[in-house]
Amino acid sequence: MPIREPDVPDVACVNGEFSPIEDARVSVEDRGLQFGDAVYEVLRAYDGRIFAILEHLDRLARSCRHIRLDAPGVLAELPGQISEALARSGYADAVIYIQLTRGAARRTHLAPDSIRPTCIVTVRRVEQWYRDEQANGVSAVGFEDTRWARCEIKSTDLLANVLLKQQARDQGAFEAILFDRQGELIEGASSNVFVAAGGVLRTPSLSPHVLAGVTRLTLLRLASGQGIPAEEGRITRDAMADAAEILLASTTTEVIPVVMFDGRPVGDGHPGPIARRLLEAYQSAVRGG
Ligand SMILES: Cc1ncc(COP(=O)(O)O)c(C=O)c1O
Repeated sequence: MPIREPDVPDVACVNGEFSPIEDARVSVEDRGLQFGDAVYEVLRAYDGRIFAILEHLDRLARSCRHIRLDAPGVLAELPGQISEALARSGYADAVIYIQLTRGAARRTHLAPDSIRPTCIVTVRRVEQWYRDEQANGVSAVGFEDTRWARCEIKSTDLLANVLLKQQARDQGAFEAILFDRQGELIEGASSNVFVAAGGVLRTPSLSPHVLAGVTRLTLLRLASGQGIPAEEGRITRDAMADAAEILLASTTTEVIPVVMFDGRPVGDGHPGPIARRLLEAYQSAVRGG
């Protein structure tokens, strides 16, 4: 891994062309911009190694199938482009985004058959480590889910998530936790949610409303290795009020305990033992431990 010069910018790769991130360009006609007609992934590199790359690329391929974006050649070239972009950045620890759009064409809802996908890979310095949030916990607020009905697709169209997260922030909270109309837990605006009660860890089952988080899957595996009983199933908003622990899980934030939910302390109002054990196990796993 080359030593990175301090003034070398973050790296982008657009359709195979590498450049500093601020020099990278896509067309104003790109359907990712015009329609949100695009899917994406977020990955983390730790010590120069990308964590769970196969799981992320599998999910990207699934998202592509869901939106009928047929791009086998582009998907095949991605691992090489990601590795090269990471190497060019020189970062040992990085956040990597992939955006795959249906491509650029004159604006009309139906895309022409001749359209070619746009593939964007960016490698950025890790600006936020969330160490304070992981150690001390955060507050979260519940909202009715206002997103579309296909949240298993990792779509770049995140307007509802942005607005929900902003509403949470307006109330001084870190995350918006989303519920359906019946009051069943779905996930966070940018995380999967776990609840611990009676020593058992629970998270909502996968459905079209829930993103199959890579961190979620990793935590379910780690819990089993740690002897923490874990289940997938229904969780109501009422049950969350009685939970001993609530945890948020995502690639960028790893594991963050929720210590205040809807303005009331969760458990004793401090990060609990399951959050602590899972965070430790996760941080060891991502560095190959
Ligand atoms: C809506 C939503 N759910 C869940 C997650 C967690 O997914 P992952 O663990 O794969 O990062 C994210 C991450 O960005 C997300 O945006």
